[in-house]
This record gives sequence, structure tokens and C-alpha cells, in this order.
Amino acid sequence: MPLKLSATEPSITRVWPRWLAADTRSRGTIWSVGVVCAVARLTRVTRLRTAHQPSAPVLCASGLRKVYGEGRSARVLLDEVALAVAPGELVAVVGRSGSGKSTLLHLLGGLDHPDAGRVEVGGRPVTGASERELSALRRESIGFVFQFFHLLPELDGEANVLLPARLPGAPAGADRRGRALIDRLGLRSVARLAPHQLSGGEQQRFAIARALVADPLLVLADEPIGNLDAAAGSVVLDLLRSSADEGRAVVMVTHQAEATARADRVLRLEHGRLFPTHASGAAITDHAEPAPRPVSE
Ligand SMILES: Nc1ncnc2c1ncn2[C@@H]1O[C@H](COP(=O)(O)OP(=O)(O)OP(=O)(O)O)[C@@H](O)[C@H]1O
Ligand SMILES: [Mg+2]
Repeated sequence: MPLKLSATEPSITRVWPRWLAADTRSRGTIWSVGVVCAVARLTRVTRLRTAHQPSAPVLCASGLRKVYGEGRSARVLLDEVALAVAPGELVAVVGRSGSGKSTLLHLLGGLDHPDAGRVEVGGRPVTGASERELSALRRESIGFVFQFFHLLPELDGEANVLLPARLPGAPAGADRRGRALIDRLGLRSVARLAPHQLSGGEQQRFAIARALVADPLLVLADEPIGNLDAAAGSVVLDLLRSSADEGRAVVMVTHQAEATARADRVLRLEHGRLFPTHASGAAITDHAEPAPRPVSE
């Protein structure tokens, strides 16, 4: 069966070539996320270093706004979204279908541009960066698990995973790490199959291995256990949890309570804003998002 590509997700032909080459409406919290990010930026400037400081947030986003359409048909999808994620943190984002979760992850990962606001990853600007700078940043610092996987159809599962390990700037040992991830995710017996020969859950696990192979500072995972049974889902959640425990920052979009249970923080995206939440089964729903707010509201 052909891969289902979301109309709202960047197409594979756009995503991979580009890749290769707070959380609350309260002004106080938005302000404090801004201060955390600004202090981190200042610290880096005063130390005249460009490398990421271990104690600074890995991800800093503030004032993010995304509007689709124009004039009377304009819709505010994200408004004043602020989020700072520290090394070692696993943050889950929940919200109704259509609330903008994938859009938010795309903005955080530099795959789409906000209409306002800024994003930094590891102290490097995502917003305002050139395509060349963005490519390097994504390759070196961000692992992205797409909601609809986006494996390259002409490569088998293992080759998809090892591709980032063979790009310039890949860390030493990435190849070995990729093979270990394939084993850990139970994919060895299907490693030589092409994406169209794999089940949805197998494709999802290859996509997760690919996101982690280059040992990124930041992992952005869009519904990473959406297609998995309980056992495979638990292996993936263990992997994301240990990725965070080893010092990475992880942001995971999910509809599943077993995933939010592993997170340090759970944020709910609703009407364009992020709210802290104590997720329970009742807080996570698949129902469609009600009508978005018009720009004039
Ligand atoms: N390029 C676009 N042009 C117009 N509308 C768009 C565009 N991209 C996304 N949208 C709209 O933004 C809304 C949010 O889409 P998004 O994919 O971010 O939702 P989501 O929260 O990830 O949903 P799901 O849980 O179903 O994956 C949808 O109503 C979608 O139609
Ligand atoms: Mg989505």
C-alpha cells in the first residue's frame, strides 16, 4: 500500500533534500521562557563560544506565530507559543487532531517558517538562518521523526538509517550506532527490505533509528508510537527516554497515555497556545479540532 502522506506534511521530495543539504498563554511564562533563552544567548556571547553550553536549554522558542491563509479566510494556527527544553528533558505535546502539533514540530525543526517569533537549537538560530545553515543545523543537531516516516523509497531500511551516518559532519561511530539501533528496535530480519515491503510499524521504527543515528542534541518525534503495538511502543519509549537521560532534549507529539507517562512535562496545544497539563487518558483525544480562531479575534 502506498505511504499515506499528510496534505499538511512537507512532501518527501521537499523534506529530505532540504534535510540533507512554555508553554502557556500566561504572559509571565512566555516572558520567563524568553528570559531563559536570552540569558542562554548572552552567556554564549560573553564566553565567545558558539558551541552549545551543557546547562543552557537545547531548544528555545518564543513568540511563535503561524497563520494560514489571508484576509477573511486567514486562520491563526499558533500564537505566542513559547517553549524551552533543557538537556535531559522529555517533553510530550498532546492536542486534538488538527490543533497544529505537526506544524509546531516543523517550525521547531526548521522545516517551516513561522510568521513571527524565533527558534534556536543548541544556541544556533533556526529562524532567519539561510538554507545552507539550516541544512547543517538539521544534519548535525536535530533528529526528526516524521509522522508519516518519509523513508527514501529507493533505499532499504538499513540504508535509510545509515544515510545520515554517511553525510559530512556525522559523528564518529554513527554507522555502528545505526546498526545497534536496528537491532534494538527489532528490525534486523527486515533490514534489507524496501520501505514498500515494510509494515507501517516497521517503517516507523526505521524512521526513529534514522533520527537518532547522528546523535542529535534535539530529537523531535511526531507520534513516534502511533503505529506500534504495546511491545514495540515500549521499546521506542525506552529509547526516547534514555536519549533524554543521556542529555539530549526530546519533544514528542503523541496521542497515547503510555507515552505521556514517560515524559517529564506534558503540554497541551489548544487554540494555538501551549498549556501545561497533567495528562490523563481523558486529556488526550483524537477528535477533530473545533474551528480555529480567526486573525481578527
Ligand atoms: N500549508 C497549509 N495550508 C493551509 N492549512 C494548513 C497547512 N498546513 C497545515 N494546515 C492546517 O493546519 C491544521 C493543523 O495541521 P497539523 O498537521 O499541524 O495538525 P496536527 O495537530 O498535527 O494533527 P494530527 O493530530 O491529525 O496529526 C490543519 O487544520 C491543517 O489543515
Ligand atoms: Mg500531526
